[in-house]
Amino acid sequence: TRPLKVALLGCGVVGSEVARIMTTHADDLAARIGAPVELAGVAVRRPDKVRGGVPAELITTDATALVKRGDIDVVIEVIGGIEPARSLITTAFEHGASVVSANKALLAQDGATLHSAAIENGQDLYYEAAVAGAIPLIRPLRESLAGDKINRVMGIVNGTTNFILDKMDTSGAGYSEALDEATALGYAEADPTADVEGFDAAAKAAILAGIAFHTRVRLDDVYREGMTEVTAADFASAKQMGCTIKLLAICERAADGESVTARVHPAMIPLSHPLASVREAYNAVFVEAEAAGRLMFYGPGAGGSPTASAVLGDVVAVCRNRLNEATGPGESAYTQLPVSPMGDV
Ligand code: HSE
Repeated sequence: TRPLKVALLGCGVVGSEVARIMTTHADDLAARIGAPVELAGVAVRRPDKVRGGVPAELITTDATALVKRGDIDVVIEVIGGIEPARSLITTAFEHGASVVSANKALLAQDGATLHSAAIENGQDLYYEAAVAGAIPLIRPLRESLAGDKINRVMGIVNGTTNFILDKMDTSGAGYSEALDEATALGYAEADPTADVEGFDAAAKAAILAGIAFHTRVRLDDVYREGMTEVTAADFASAKQMGCTIKLLAICERAADGESVTARVHPAMIPLSHPLASVREAYNAVFVEAEAAGRLMFYGPGAGGSPTASAVLGDVVAVCRNRLNEATGPGESAYTQLPVSPMGDV
C-alpha cells in the first residue's frame, strides 16, 4: 500500500509533539491505518526554534508551497489564529488534501466556509483537538450520538481559567495572585486575555453548539462574560452557600426546539455537583441527550501531548477514510435555528 503523506503546519507545543509521536509510533500508526504514514514536510515561521527532533530537510518556511505540492494526503494545521491558517486550509482542500485542525478560533468564526470548501473538493475536515484537548467530544457528538437528540452541552472547556478559579477556591488567593501562579507554571499564556475574558471558551461553545444542534453558531452569537471580576470575597460567599465558582460554557436547545442558546460566564456550582470537583487545568463537559440521558466527558483539556493525541486520532481517521476512498461526516448543519445568547434565563 502506498504511504500516506502528512504535512504539518506549525511546530510549537502541539506540533512538535505531533511530529515526535508520528516518528516514535510510526509502526503502530501504520498498523492501525493499514498503510504507512510519512511526515512529508513541516512549515514553520522560525526554523531555528523547531523542537522535537524534526529532520532539517523536512522544515520549510513556505507553508503555501507545501500545501500546494499536490501529493499531500493530510494537512495538520496547528498554527492557530485566522490568517494565514484559513487560506492555507482552503488551498490544501483545492490541492487534494484533507485537513486536521486544532484551530478553535477559526472554526468558530468560519467553520461553515471551511466545511463547504472541504465538501466541494471531496475532502475531510476533522478538528477533535479544537475543543477540550484530549477529551473525545467532537467525534461522540458528530457520530456516536448522531441518532439521538442532544438538548444540552455544558461544562468547563478552558483549562487556564479553571486552574485560576481552583487556586482561588483552595488557597483564598485573589485573581491576580492566582493568575501569576498559572503563568509561572506555564498554564496561562503571556497574554491571557483570550482565556480570562472567555473568548477561548466562547469559541469552543460555538463549535459544540453547532455540532450538537445541527445548526450554525458563530463566536459572535455566544454571550460571553470572563472571570476577571471574580474575587476572593465571591468565593467566601459561595462557600457559605455550599458552592464553588466555575467558568461554564452552556449550550441549550430551547424547550420549543425553535432556537438555541450559547453562553459563557462564571457560575455558582453546588459542591455536590460533579463539575465542582474538576480541579486544576482539567476540563469536563456534560451532554444531555433524549435517549442517552446524561453523559460526562472528563480529562486534560490543554497541553502539548493531550492535544497531539486528539490530532493524531483525527489523522488516523482521515487516513482510513482515504484508503477507503470515502470521506467522514461533513458539516452537521441542516437548519439555521435562531441563536439567542442568553435564552430564557
Ligand atoms: N488556552 C486553552 C485552555 C488551551 O487553557 O484551555 C486549550 O484550548
